[in-house]
Amino acid sequence: MSDASASDAPSDAPMQRAIAAVRAQTRATPQVALILGSGLGDLADDAENATTIPATDVPGYPPSTVSGHHGRLVVGTLEGVDVVFVQGRVHYYEGYPLHRVTFPVRLVHALGAERLLVTNSAGGINRTFEPGTLMFITDHINGVFNSPLVGRAAPPRVEPHGAQAPYYDPDWTARAQAVARAQGLPTRAGTYIWTKGPSYETKAEIRAFTQMGADAVGMSTVPEVIQARQLGMSVLGLSTITNPAAGLGAEPLDHDDVLAVGQRVRAHLAQLVRGILRETI
Ligand code: HPA
Repeated sequence: MSDASASDAPSDAPMQRAIAAVRAQTRATPQVALILGSGLGDLADDAENATTIPATDVPGYPPSTVSGHHGRLVVGTLEGVDVVFVQGRVHYYEGYPLHRVTFPVRLVHALGAERLLVTNSAGGINRTFEPGTLMFITDHINGVFNSPLVGRAAPPRVEPHGAQAPYYDPDWTARAQAVARAQGLPTRAGTYIWTKGPSYETKAEIRAFTQMGADAVGMSTVPEVIQARQLGMSVLGLSTITNPAAGLGAEPLDHDDVLAVGQRVRAHLAQLVRGILRETI
């Protein structure tokens, strides 16, 4: 079983090689890592004093196979904060095992990032979440029932008082919501369900996810957040609702439409992310 034997903890040789490849290009210590979803990657172009490191320069880094997703790290500053952008995430549906999907999270943590701001595109399940809505992720449902930690973490533990620490930092989220309010930017909050893809969901699946309490559905983010929390990182999640989930809208879903709505709200999302960096870090 390769999952159990493959290891790239910071002390391990494969991760050491990846860190050395990045360190050969920059000495910066990012505080915040940003993983930007489909069509939302352009904010990295605004980073100051930026060092761009193509994924192909970093041993072990999974190359993206999807158009519209550049695979690279951009290390720099934005709004006075030391950041690293993970541009062009890879998805489980591209065929990588989950521990490779989450390799960039372990790498940015090893570079110093203690916070992860993660964005994605998602289908709206909550019927009041129109395309273009920005949704803070307050919880998730692991609809794939798989984890990047399988074979790689200590056995499950019961936390004191049975309380599992929340995946999405409530304090950081509340402060980010306040930033959005101050900007006059309407946002919502809700639960994101992760599906493996690459097929969009069926109408029956969306009915089931509605019953389960999901507000939005997408094919990313949850493995990265599980990995980040296991490393002790603080997480903030933001979904752009790009379409009504399957069966809830008039039109069949199309990846180009998803990208087009992502483009439409990009300026608002960029403004919000900048405000979050400036005012909550
Ligand atoms: N389903 C799954 N993933 C998505 C969707 C969707 O409707 N929209 C954007 N990403």
